Order: sequence, then C-alpha cells, then structure tokens
Amino acid sequence: MTAWTVRELPDLSGRLAVVTGAAGGIGFATARRLAGTGAEVVFAGRDPARVRAAAGRASREVPGARVRAAELDLADLTSVAAFAAHLSAESRALDLLVNNAGVMNPPERRTTRDGFELTFGVNHLGHFALTGRLLPLLLAARNPRVVTVSALVARSRLAEPDDPLSERGYRGMVAYITSKLANVLFAQEFQRRADAAGAGLTSVAVHPGFSLTGLQRHSSRLARAVGRGGLQRVLGQPADAAALPSLYAATVPGVTPGGFYGPTGRLECRGTPGPVKPPKAAAEPGRARELWEMSERLTGVTYPWPS
Ligand SMILES: NC(=O)c1ccc[n+]([C@@H]2O[C@H](COP(=O)([O-])OP(=O)(O)OC[C@H]3O[C@@H](n4cnc5c(N)ncnc54)[C@H](OP(=O)(O)O)[C@@H]3O)[C@@H](O)[C@H]2O)c1
Repeated sequence: MTAWTVRELPDLSGRLAVVTGAAGGIGFATARRLAGTGAEVVFAGRDPARVRAAAGRASREVPGARVRAAELDLADLTSVAAFAAHLSAESRALDLLVNNAGVMNPPERRTTRDGFELTFGVNHLGHFALTGRLLPLLLAARNPRVVTVSALVARSRLAEPDDPLSERGYRGMVAYITSKLANVLFAQEFQRRADAAGAGLTSVAVHPGFSLTGLQRHSSRLARAVGRGGLQRVLGQPADAAALPSLYAATVPGVTPGGFYGPTGRLECRGTPGPVKPPKAAAEPGRARELWEMSERLTGVTYPWPS
C-alpha cells in the first residue's frame, strides 16, 4: 500500500471544521493540519485558556490559518448545548466534525455533571449529544463528514456493553474499552440512520494506533515509564502521525461510509492509514440500535432528521 501523507490533504478553503479535545495530543495535531488546508477550524476544549493557547500556537505555526478556540466540556450536557447554540447562531454549514476528545482510566469511578460515569459520559454520550445538536449545521453542508475517534482496544472482549455506565462495578480500562466500542457502534448506526433519512452524510470511525499523549495521565508511573522507554519507540508514533487516520477519514474522497480506519503498520499501532477490521460487535446492528436508543434517553437528544 502506498503511504498516505499530509501532502495529500486537499484544499479545504471555505469549509468549516470542529475538532473536539483540540487543546493537546492528537486533537491538536488534527486541528492544526486541518488549518493548513485552508479550512476554518474551531479548536474545541474544556479548558478555555489551554484551548486558546492551542489555537494561538496553530495560527503562529500555520501561515494564513483561520482558527479559533471555543469552550466545550463534554462532561456537561449544558456546555455541549451552549457550544452548539453558539455555532448555530452563525448560521453556517458545518463541513466536518471530528469527535476526538477522550479520557482514559481515571483511578476511581467519577461522574459527569449529569451523573454518568465519566469515561462513557465524555467519550460517547458527550459526543452523541454534540453530534445530534450540530446535525442541522452538518446537513446544511454539501458533503458533511463526521469522524469519531475510537481505539484499537474497541476490539477487546473486555467491553461491557451491558453495563455501559459501570454501575455494577468500576474498572477503568473496561470503562474505556466499552466507551471506545460505543464510538464505533455510534459511527456505524449514525451512518445507517443518515442513509435511511436520505442525508448525504458520511460517518466514519477511526483509531489512531498508539501514541504517548495526555491520555496516559492516569496510568501508573511504571506503565508510563514502559511506554516512554519502549512502547513509544518500538510500536508508537508521535501525535502528528497518530492524527493521520482522522485526517484520512476526514478528507479522502473514497472512504467507506460507516467504515473503520486506522494505521496499517505493525500491530496497527503505527503506519499509513487505511481500512481496518471493525470490532465483532459491529456485526450486530441490534447492539448499535440499543446503544443509540439508550443514548437518546440518557442525553435527552433526539437527532432532528429531515422528514
Ligand atoms: N494516544 C493513544 O495512544 C490513543 C490510542 C487509542 C485511542 N486514542 C484516542 O484518541 C483521542 C485523543 O486522545 P489523545 O491521545 O490525544 O489524548 P489527550 O492528549 O489526553 O487528548 C484528549 C483530549 O480530550 C480532552 N478532553 C478530556 N475530557 C474532556 C471533556 N470533558 N470535554 C472536552 N474535552 C475533553 C482533553 O482535554 P484536557 O487536556 O483538558 O483534559 C484533551 O484535549 C481520544 O479519543 C483517545 O481515546 C488515543
């Protein structure tokens, strides 16, 4: 397979993109590269000062960048609604949404403002609500895309889709794996629903491989040392490279709607982006439908499809 690089990114002048979790890590790398295509990019993040600094850095590093920062806390449905309301007030079509933000493995069960277990609440429910609230803006675009960032571990058998909020017991990595499986099921079900509504929208899930970023902040000191010492060098890739699957899924004309993309190199931890095998649970659309209905109930957000 020929390597796909950022040199193949198209000119996206005049388009509008939102990237969540853009203050650092893979989200920052994704948003900065998108800014280099000429697109106007909203750097969304929960810490206003950090996300402003990130957007400022991108505008210094990318000549002619059209970027701005916006506050978005995915652990608070009121913040999600406020973010969407601000953007909607501009009455502009939204061409691209990258659902990138994520939290992994907090040491104990924490909850969002609305009382959901934090990992599932941020990684899945927050993005579910955000995408639903932004749907009218997306549907106003010519070829809208939504890229949802999952993880390689979405294929793990440890996922607990029957206890998504960790109510029966909390294990940090299990909660993370469950939320990352939900990301893939969401992306696929979103595509099915868009198709059923006749909406010309493309939804894809990606995973970035492995990269040492802020994501591992809750991992043990030993695990982080192993990560720095060996894993990152042997298997991992810098955040800039880990952003490639998102950028590929966001821009390549022939991506498969509802598909799953990731690095195709060693153990899928690094390498050129391309199609990868989805988790087994993705073969059961009933699971995704249940997740969707539960997400509607929990967030109170119903997607306003055109009738
Ligand atoms: N790095 C990897 O090896 C790897 C592997 C598989 C999948 N992923 C996925 O890649 C995505 C990006 O992760 P990363 O590696 O770049 O990690 P990161 O450096 O920790 O970035 C995650 C971003 O999400 C933001 N975030 C966390 N909670 C949020 C909330 N409540 N509201 C809004 N934003 C919030 C973080 O903001 P703060 O900095 O303010 O917390 C941060 O900007 C995640 O979805 C992750 O699951 C990463």
